[in-house]
Parts: sequence; C-alpha cells; structure tokens
Amino acid sequence: MAPRENFGSRFAVIMAMAGSAVGLGNIWRFPYMVGEHGGAAFVILYMLSSFILVLPIFFAETIIGRRSRQGTFGAMEKLAPGTPWKWLGLFTVVSPIIILSYYSVVGGWSVEYLFKAACLDFTNAEPSEIQGFFGQFISSTGGPIAVHTIFMLLVAGIVLAGVKKGIEGFTKVTMPILFILIIALAVYSMTLPGASEGITYLLKPDFSEVDAHAVAAAMGQAFFSLSLGVGTILTYASYMRKEENILASGVGTAVSDLLFAVIAGFAVMPAVFAAGIEPGAGAGLVFDTLPFIFNKMGMGAPWLSAIIAIIFFVTILVAALTSAISMMEVGVAYLTEEKGMRRGSAVLAITVFAWCVGVLCSLSFGPLADVKLLGNSIFDFLDKLCSNWLLPAGGLLFTLFVGWKMSRADVFDEFTNGGTLKANVALFNVVWFLLRFVAPVGIVVVFLTNLFL
Ligand code: TRP
Repeated sequence: MAPRENFGSRFAVIMAMAGSAVGLGNIWRFPYMVGEHGGAAFVILYMLSSFILVLPIFFAETIIGRRSRQGTFGAMEKLAPGTPWKWLGLFTVVSPIIILSYYSVVGGWSVEYLFKAACLDFTNAEPSEIQGFFGQFISSTGGPIAVHTIFMLLVAGIVLAGVKKGIEGFTKVTMPILFILIIALAVYSMTLPGASEGITYLLKPDFSEVDAHAVAAAMGQAFFSLSLGVGTILTYASYMRKEENILASGVGTAVSDLLFAVIAGFAVMPAVFAAGIEPGAGAGLVFDTLPFIFNKMGMGAPWLSAIIAIIFFVTILVAALTSAISMMEVGVAYLTEEKGMRRGSAVLAITVFAWCVGVLCSLSFGPLADVKLLGNSIFDFLDKLCSNWLLPAGGLLFTLFVGWKMSRADVFDEFTNGGTLKANVALFNVVWFLLRFVAPVGIVVVFLTNLFL
C-alpha cells in the first residue's frame, strides 16, 4: 500500500479542518437557529457547549484518527480489534451521507441565488419581494431539484478527482478570503439604519425563552458546526503529521469556527431587523437578508450590488463545497478501504443515494409539505435527527472510546506527542477529565432532558 499522505503544515491542517467546519452551518444554520431560539441566550449556550461538550470530542476524534492512521471503520478495528466498537465506525459512515443529502439542497439554494444575483434579479427588490421569492422558489418542484443536482455533481466531481491533494491547496486560499469577506459584511450590516436592534438581540440574553429544546439545539448546532460525531475530523486527523499539536489544532479550529458563526450572526441579524424580517423565520433567514444587504451596499448601482452578491455567493458556495466534500469523503473512504470498491463506484453510489434522499427533502418544502415525521417536514426531521441525536450520539461513543477503552498512557502519549509538548502535558488532566466525565455526562443529560421535557 502507498504510504498515507499527510497535510504539509499546521496551517494546512487547521485550514482543512476549518474548511470542513466552516460552511452552511455557520452562514445559514447558525443565524436561523439563533432566531428560532431566542437570540443571545442561545449564542451563550452554543459557546458553552462548543467548549465544554464538543471540543473534548474534537480531541477524542483527532486522538483516534492520528493514532490509528485510518478512516473511522479501520480506526476502530485497529485500536480495538475484534470488538463491537467496529459498529461505531459503521454508524458514523451513515450520518454524514444523510447530512449530505439535505445539505446539498441548501447548497443548491446558494447556487440559485448566485444565478439570480448574476442576472440582476434582486436589484432594487424590496425585502418583501425577496422573501416572497425564497418561499416560492423552495416550494416549487423542478428548480430546487435542478440546483440540488448541480451542487451534488460539483461535490462528486471534486471528491472523484481525489480530495487529498485538492483539499489543502483549495482551503488554504479560500478560507482566509471568506473570513475577510464575512467580517466586511458584518461591519457594513451593523451600520444599516435600524441595525442596533439586531445587535442588542445578539448581545442581550433573555433566558426566559430557553427551554430543553433550545439547549439540545445549541448542542446540536455545536456538533454540526464543528463537523463532529461522524468521523470527519477523525478522517482528516489520520492525515496529520506526528509532530502536529492536537491541542492547538483543536482550539484553532474551534475558535475559527465559533468566530465565523458569531460574525455571520452579526452580518445577518442587524440586517434582519433593518429589513423588518422576523428573526424566527426559519431556514430562509439568510437567503431573505443577504440580497437586501447587497442592494444597500450597491448604493443604487445595480452592477455594484450584483458584483458584491456574486463574490459572496461564490465564497458561500465554496465554503459549502469544502464541507460537503468532507461528508462524502467519510463514506468514500469506507467503501474503498473496507469494501474494496473503486473510488468512482463509491462516489457514484453515495451520490445517487444522497441525491434521492435530497430530492425528498427538497420536495418537503412543496408537494410533500404534508408528509410529517414526528411533526416535522422530511427536511427538518432529518436535520434534527442528525444534529440533535446522531451526531451527539456518535460523539458520545467517541469520547467513551478514548476515555474508557483506550489506556490513559496511550491517550497521554498521543495528546502530548510523547510528553514533548509542555502546554499539552500541563493541560492533560483537565482534558482527560472533560473527556471521561464532563462531555459524556453532559451529552446524556441534554439527551434525557430533550427526551422527557
Ligand atoms: N460543519 C459543516 C458546516 O458547518 C458541515 C459539516 C461538514 C458536517 N462535515 C460534517 C456536519 C459532518 C456534520 C457532520 O457547514
């Protein structure tokens, strides 16, 4: 077998991991979750779960991935041969493919918005017209399926070409650009007339709206946003060099992801209020507000707003692609490494499956709107199932694996690079405690309260 490839530098590792982490979860999902669950209080819960419950899972996945140098399934076989832990490997292959299916629908929406912006369709449109367009578009049949297909083919094409070489070069360039753009957008958005209400909304917590569902949603958002619980980060960590610092990569990724989400919140919320949109409007929130901001930024010149909009939707698309690739790669790694499939066949199988599920998700905004699973549309059901249940469950099992199945000596060795990294040695007991007790107990408590309250 050819020696496994490694990422070339710490910067590359963080950018690739951040490329997976930063995506529609930050730009699309985070703002509307904040709007649905009461603003600043949700942001605080999300930050707490990111650092207390979810960052330990990041360490768990990187420790497993780098120690085993295998994808999820192989990792379990290598570190705990012949045990039922291999089922965890298998379980974590399924959820990213489900996520990919509805993620691609939203990715498709951004493709549509890119086309629209390029055709100057949003120029000088009133907020109500923009909102009307979104509702009409997603509830139609052919259009959303067509753009979902385009997005899916883009993902398949990149994964087929082999991401390992591509990921590093691609993400190293695009992630910093996206970061700069989103900051610029947030700064601008906060200066809009009427923006201050949105800023207050993000900064002044009102805990009266927080219930068990909000807590579960905050944890789910943290898992989703950091791509944890399904072995994505584990798989990337298997390409990390031995001398890389797990603590630094984890904190680096988590902080960039969190910052990105919060800045996206500051780009979107002030504009939501400025445009008079309801913050709890749901999945369309970002799509309703961005064209409004771009119009204002164009200062009456249609070509200027169109250029700004195009640059933005392209980068959003790229961010969505770098995340979607990482979802598909988990399944592809499994099918090629464990099932001996050719890369092309693996990509084809996953693409067809995820595309079909995605079509159902897309139709659930229109013709299939009446089909309810436990009171949710197909799209919402799959999103909640994955984010609030499957990802935390996968994460829980990963921490239990590292905290209770692996030996302390092995975990110490991996986390501190054989005791050579001083800060990691000093912090090891804290991390070990979070991994063994705090994260698992916290996740179970959130599960139970969500189930029974
Ligand atoms: N974190 C990505 C985002 O915020 C989405 C993502 C990529 C993901 N890989 C994942 C989510 C694995 C859950 C699991 O857009």
